[in-house]
Parts: sequence; structure tokens; C-alpha cells
Amino acid sequence: MKLSVIILAAGQGTRMKSALPKVMHKLAGMPMLEHVYKRSLELGAEDIHIVFGHGGEHLHDYCSDFNVEWVLQDEQLGTAHAVMQASPHIDNDHTVLILYGDVPLIKSTTLETLVDKVTSDTITLLTVELPDPAGYGRIIREGGEVTAIVEHKDATDAQRDITEVNTGILALQAGYLNSCLSRIDNNNVQGEYYLTDVIELAVKDGKKVITTNPDNSYEVEGVNDRSQLARLERIKQQELAEAIMADGVTVVDPSRIDIRGELEIGNDSTIDINCIFEGKTKIGNNVSIGAGCIITDSKIADGCVIKPYSVIEQAVIDGGVEVGPFARLRPGTHLKENSKVGNFVEAKNTLLGEGSKASHLTYLGDTEIGSKVNIGAGTITCNYDGANKHKTVIKDGAFIGSDTQLVAPVTVGANATIGAGSTITRDTEDGELTLSRSAQKTIRGWERPKKKTR
Ligand code: UD1
Ligand code: CA
Repeated sequence: MKLSVIILAAGQGTRMKSALPKVMHKLAGMPMLEHVYKRSLELGAEDIHIVFGHGGEHLHDYCSDFNVEWVLQDEQLGTAHAVMQASPHIDNDHTVLILYGDVPLIKSTTLETLVDKVTSDTITLLTVELPDPAGYGRIIREGGEVTAIVEHKDATDAQRDITEVNTGILALQAGYLNSCLSRIDNNNVQGEYYLTDVIELAVKDGKKVITTNPDNSYEVEGVNDRSQLARLERIKQQELAEAIMADGVTVVDPSRIDIRGELEIGNDSTIDINCIFEGKTKIGNNVSIGAGCIITDSKIADGCVIKPYSVIEQAVIDGGVEVGPFARLRPGTHLKENSKVGNFVEAKNTLLGEGSKASHLTYLGDTEIGSKVNIGAGTITCNYDGANKHKTVIKDGAFIGSDTQLVAPVTVGANATIGAGSTITRDTEDGELTLSRSAQKTIRGWERPKKKTR
């Protein structure tokens, strides 16, 4: 059967106390709504409808790359009313799955089991046992069969003792859903159109209600405030850490790692505490990532050692490279095999050749460095003249003395040596020593200034 998904996201989310719509708050680096959207895609949904409310108009802008129908629910008159905004646009023979933009940890396997059981005679409902069911709709059963859902506010004391609750997630045929929605009224304590009334109608119509359960109750937990969001974030992070550990990665403390995007990492690599991975990052085998590193959209090949507190963004690091501690690699940095970037080195749009080293206190911007080059401590490429950026080229085997300024555009020749403390403004010859400092002299008898006494 073809599948359509309706994602409800019209709630105000007032408890977030935020200018940002609730479902746009991020979990593992991605808006909650996007998590739910991705699950819908994994299920192979033909069409996805997102019901948004006032204040949620900006959702389109944030999620402009989503392939969905955006449906405005003008007034929030209840979950049935919300579904009704989208369901008439769905083919009658499709299965409709109802999801929630603020329930981000639902798994597609859980949903598959639910959707697979829908037929023209059955409705499927995801329920869960909760030790503290307060606030939730309770599942009413007679002789084991579900007969209704009663909202907490409408429930009797006896019904409130029921611990099996409605997660809100259900699936059924679109044609039948539409025939139910037109029959639902708002005759209840909250004066809302309850989607849950579908269950009682279905039972009356002789349909069967099948329930399934998620493996973990956190899958169906909703987010109403930032505390709940932080709780689910930790659960998600634990899950992501478990997944890479299962693949042969040592995570020193899975409660102190943050993966905010896609991290692919090979076996026998180690991640020390408090590292953050953002965007799409690929790390090879036998890589050691020290404590406190932040790595964004980068590639790190086998055998690299990234020492603590290095910040790496849109960089490519080839095999056997050593970085940090306290290195900053900015976009466009490419470190080739066995090169080394040490502490307090910043690189941007720079190629560091095979076996080359910049071990201390250096800025390399818009630079192309050959192989076996040594960049002395305190070297600075002066790539910016206040208006334009210029390139520095340092050829194979060059040796740049400490505290050198290379004023770009400039080229240092192959195997050339630059004397320490030089300011290089013109290209230098291959294999020769170039320096630009005044000869050392001694002024005998010179005295230091003294403090004036009155
Ligand atoms: C709903 C269920 C309840 C279930 C609980 C699980 C109904 C009547 N009740 O109750 O059985 O145990 O979820 O969390 O369905 N929404 C809209 N438009 C509306 C109303 C709601 O988009 O007009 C969206 C909200 O953004 C929210 C979701 O639907 O994401 C649930 O709405 P909410 O009012 O929180 O329902 P509950 O009272 O929690
Ligand atoms: Ca709720």
C-alpha cells in the first residue's frame, strides 16, 4: 500500500519561551522536525504533509529543501482538526501515518511494524506502558480488544489507573480516516476535536484496532520545554556513541561526546572526552582524537593523531598527520601525508606538502607549501593587504627561519633558506639563503634610561 505521512507541528510551543518555532530547535544538530521528516522518507512515503500554525510560517524558510506539502492550520482546534487540514488532499487508498514534529526519536523500524499491519479493516495504534501515565490518553480495552481512547481530562478515576497510553501515533487508510474526521465533534472537557475519537468510531464500524509498541518509551516522548529537549539529546548521543563503539571505535566516555551530524569513523580509532563532531565528517582507522576537539565537515585519513583542543573545519587531512594541541584548521586546509601542524598554528586555504612541518605559533593563509618544508616558529604569511588576498608559495625542501613574515604574493624557492626574523617581500632563489635583517651591532657604553627624580 502507498504511504502518506501527516506531521503535526501546529502547537505553539510556548514552554520553550523562544522566538524560534519549537520544532526547529535542534537535536543532534538537526531540527526536531527534520528528524521526523527523515524517518518519513526512510519509510518510503509518497507524500508528506506538515501541518503548521501561526508563528510557524517561517518553517518553510528554514526547511526550504524539504519535499513536502505545507498546510496551515489557522486555529488550533485539536488533533483531529489538524489532521483534517491535510487528509482530504490524500488519495483514499493510501495508508496515512500520523507523526508529530516534537517527537523526534521515533524509529523507522517501529513505524514500519505499525504501518505494515494496516488493512482496509484495521487501524493500527502505537501504545506504550508508562509508570506515570498522567496527562496522556488512556487505552480502554474490553476482553483484550481496544475499544476507545479516553483523554486524561475526560477520564474517570478508574480509567486514570490505566498505564497503557496513547502515543498519538497511528496509521489507517486515508479514505476511512476522512469518513471518520467528518463525524468527530468537540463534545469534551477541552472543547477540542480529538483524533483519538477515531478509535471509538472504528470499533463501531466493525474495524479492528491493532496495537504495537516501541522498543523504548523515549521513542515516543514529546518535547515541550528545553529540559525535555536536553534529556532526549543525551539519549540520542548515547545511541550514536553506541553505534560507533559497535563498529570498533573506542569512545572513552560515551556520556561526553556530541555528534551533531554524520560521523563515519573507522575501527581502532579513539575519541577522548568532550569532542564535538558537526556536519559530515569522515575519519579513518587508527586515528586518535584528543580531548576537546571540535571537528566540522572534515576528512581525516588513517593513522592521524589529533591532539587535544584542536578546532578543524572543512579540512582534509591525509594519513599519518599530527595536529595540535590547540591547532586551528580553517576551511580549505589540506595537510598531506606525514605532515605536522603543532600548537597555536592557524591554517586557512593552505596546502601543506608531504612531511612538511609547522610546529609552533604560525599563521598560514592562502599558502601552497611543498614537501619536506620546515616552517619556523612565529612565521606569518601576510596574505591580506587590506583589500585583497594574495598567495604565498613555498617550494619543496625550503627552510623558513623563525619569526619570518612572508608578504604575499611571494614565492620561496626550492631548498631555499630564509634567515630568522626576515620580512620577505620578493621571490627568493632556489637553494640560497635569503635574509632581510640589519647586521647585528653593539653600542658600547650605552645606558638604559633612568627614572627622573625631583
Ligand atoms: C495527544 C493525544 C493523547 C496522547 C498524547 C501523546 C489527542 C486528542 N490526544 O494529547 O491521547 O496521549 O497526544 O502526547 O490527540 N497539534 C496541532 N494542532 C492542534 C492540536 C495539536 O498541530 O490543533 C499538535 C501539537 O503541536 C502536538 C500534537 O499535535 O505536537 C499533540 O497535541 P497536544 O495538544 O499536545 O495533545 P495532547 O493533549 O498531548
Ligand atoms: Ca502533548
